[in-house]
Amino acid sequence: MSQTLDTLNTRFALPHTLVFSESVPGWPVAEITTPLASARVALHGAHVLSWQPAGQQPVIWVSQAAFFEPGKPVRGGVPVCWPWFGAVPGKTLHGFVRTMLWQLRSAEQDAGGQVVLRLGLTDDATTRAVWDHAFDLELVVTVGLTLTLALTTRNTGDAPLSITQALHTYLCTADITQTTVQGLDGTPYLDKVQAFAVCQQSGDVTFSGETDRIYTDTTADSLIQDGASRRSIRISKQGSASTVVWNPWVEKEKTMADMAPGEHRQFLCVETCNAGPDAVTIAPAMTHTLAATISVV
Ligand code: BG6
Repeated sequence: MSQTLDTLNTRFALPHTLVFSESVPGWPVAEITTPLASARVALHGAHVLSWQPAGQQPVIWVSQAAFFEPGKPVRGGVPVCWPWFGAVPGKTLHGFVRTMLWQLRSAEQDAGGQVVLRLGLTDDATTRAVWDHAFDLELVVTVGLTLTLALTTRNTGDAPLSITQALHTYLCTADITQTTVQGLDGTPYLDKVQAFAVCQQSGDVTFSGETDRIYTDTTADSLIQDGASRRSIRISKQGSASTVVWNPWVEKEKTMADMAPGEHRQFLCVETCNAGPDAVTIAPAMTHTLAATISVV
């Protein structure tokens, strides 16, 4: 049963802190405002759309041309890619949960003033038709001076589950050509731009063309240095063995109906993943948690 705007506001709103709105009918969004930060989280896809810690410029990027519609992914924010990352023949890219309506399970403010949303999704006839497994999926979003997303997969079936997954974070940057990612020096990666050639990172990641890489077997933090605005963003992670770095650059951007011209200059994706060879297997009744914490440092 989907939750109506009235139900959400009656059950979960927090005075002066959390309210639910629906500027697109049937597409509810949790709007969070606290002294620590502001953020917006759509129930479709359990999709974080924005996060701006106090005293900082926005950290999470969304395209001017993004679609906000049931059944369509949003270009920007933090799409949840699950139970597969990337392409699977005959299936939608990046799994199916980023376009599904999740249930809000709880909304609270903790002792430190952070707002904690718990969103969930379980298998049903729709999910069984595309992926015939029993599961419970829960995303806990903690909004404060840092932003934490923790995605827990519970195997509620009686056979092992194998998944790949991503917290596909789009980050604002003032100028991609002056942006670097530290933390991946020496790490092997699969280069999608070169037909998945196996390469090795040398030094910081820099951007001068289409970049689409799965860094494997890495649990390291990523430090994004936004040279033009002199800002650094750290992503630390848990339960993640891969990091994806993506920017479509000029030509690929033109093929995307949900990106405006030139927007590739304003963002990069640094994604907390278990992708490619880093698939995760979860035994019956067991759980796995993939988590990312984003901070401006
Ligand atoms: C990245 C992939 O994670 O997501 C890219 O590595 C892909 O290959 C990009 O193009 C965006 O995917 P989508 O489905 O949101 O357009």
